[in-house]
Amino acid sequence: MYRPAARLAEIEPFHVVELLTRARQLEAEGRDIIHMEVGEPDFPTPDPIAEAAIDAIRQGHTRYTETLGLPALREAISRFYGERYGVDVPAGRIAVTNGASGALNLAFACLAESGSQWLLADPGYPCNRHILRTFSGRPQNIPVGPESNFQPTPDQVRQYWQPETAGLLVASPANPTGTLLSLDDTRALANVCREKNGHFLVDEIYHGLTYPEGDAPTDTPPDVPSACAAGDDIWIINSFSKYFQMTGWRLGWMVIPEAYVRDVEKLAQNLTLCPSTPAQYGALAAFLPETIAILESRRLEFRHRRDFLAPALERIGFRIIARPEGAFYLYCDCSALTDDSFTLARRLLEETGVAATPGVDFGFNAPEKHIRFAYTTNIERLAEAADRLGRYFNRQGQSGAIGA
Ligand SMILES: Cc1ncc(COP(=O)(O)O)c(C=O)c1O
Repeated sequence: MYRPAARLAEIEPFHVVELLTRARQLEAEGRDIIHMEVGEPDFPTPDPIAEAAIDAIRQGHTRYTETLGLPALREAISRFYGERYGVDVPAGRIAVTNGASGALNLAFACLAESGSQWLLADPGYPCNRHILRTFSGRPQNIPVGPESNFQPTPDQVRQYWQPETAGLLVASPANPTGTLLSLDDTRALANVCREKNGHFLVDEIYHGLTYPEGDAPTDTPPDVPSACAAGDDIWIINSFSKYFQMTGWRLGWMVIPEAYVRDVEKLAQNLTLCPSTPAQYGALAAFLPETIAILESRRLEFRHRRDFLAPALERIGFRIIARPEGAFYLYCDCSALTDDSFTLARRLLEETGVAATPGVDFGFNAPEKHIRFAYTTNIERLAEAADRLGRYFNRQGQSGAIGA
């Protein structure tokens, strides 16, 4: 008997996975594929983190920890907020989780009533709407575009808020656009949520990987405030995956409004018991000055790649419509080159060996016009990709096939 829960009908796969499967097939046939579809850093986890985890395993730290994480790690994260952002976030409000994914699951398990509606930016990170559905909430997309730097505005939040709306989730830097919310914008959004008596969640998973306009390329972290500074009633989602380059370790954290800490703890006791123990011991080394020095040099490298790739794509005919001040993505308008970005992504893979993610993976807001390139590969490979794409569109132009 096959009878999955009805909610499964609403859970969609990641379309890019289909592309990735095809990319792997082509690689198995000997083709050279340039991966620009992947949403994870290409750098290995910094050595001090890896060494700390290996030592911990050797010393026998392989059993469950406290449900909300090692007290020393919660303290280290709390100190990080003080040192980097100048905000006081008590360790008692920090839950260490299984990645930002674990944090989002716990947050919605804690907050989403059956049928409650949640406002999400479109385009946005697709798993959000599926996590919500898993907990019987309802996603309500807010279409966002270049006029608001692909972030929802307070007016839009008011406009889309319904009696059944329970809250708003934003991301800064955002996926797929890499755009930031200023602290003033965050405060304004928080105020609308307060007015409406709703929850406000900010996903800061790409925090640290920021290259704000006007900021000189140096290896000291730029001054990009955390939404923590906008109020202690805001739920902050974060992770060791991206800035700390620990995607496979499955470790993240969440800053929880005080009143909900015990609720999240009860849920985590039942849903996950605790985050990975070796990963937590590794993460204790994530905030050491020697680790931060490695991460900052890599941040500069990401910035360098962005500054190389954006004009290279524009020369080919892609339009960079979002201000990509963070993460490692360029979200492009490709409507001058095609009216179907999904087909384009497939053709680019087959004919040029360049893999990118079509807009359809990020929502319903003109996905056919957009495509996301991740600069998670080195500059030589990015140059090669730009070269291949340039030649492809030249051939298309000569044969009059552009737009087909
Ligand atoms: C915006 C956003 N939030 C959350 C996640 C989940 O990340 P993780 O569970 O690896 O921390 C991702 C992953 O790509 C993401 O892009």
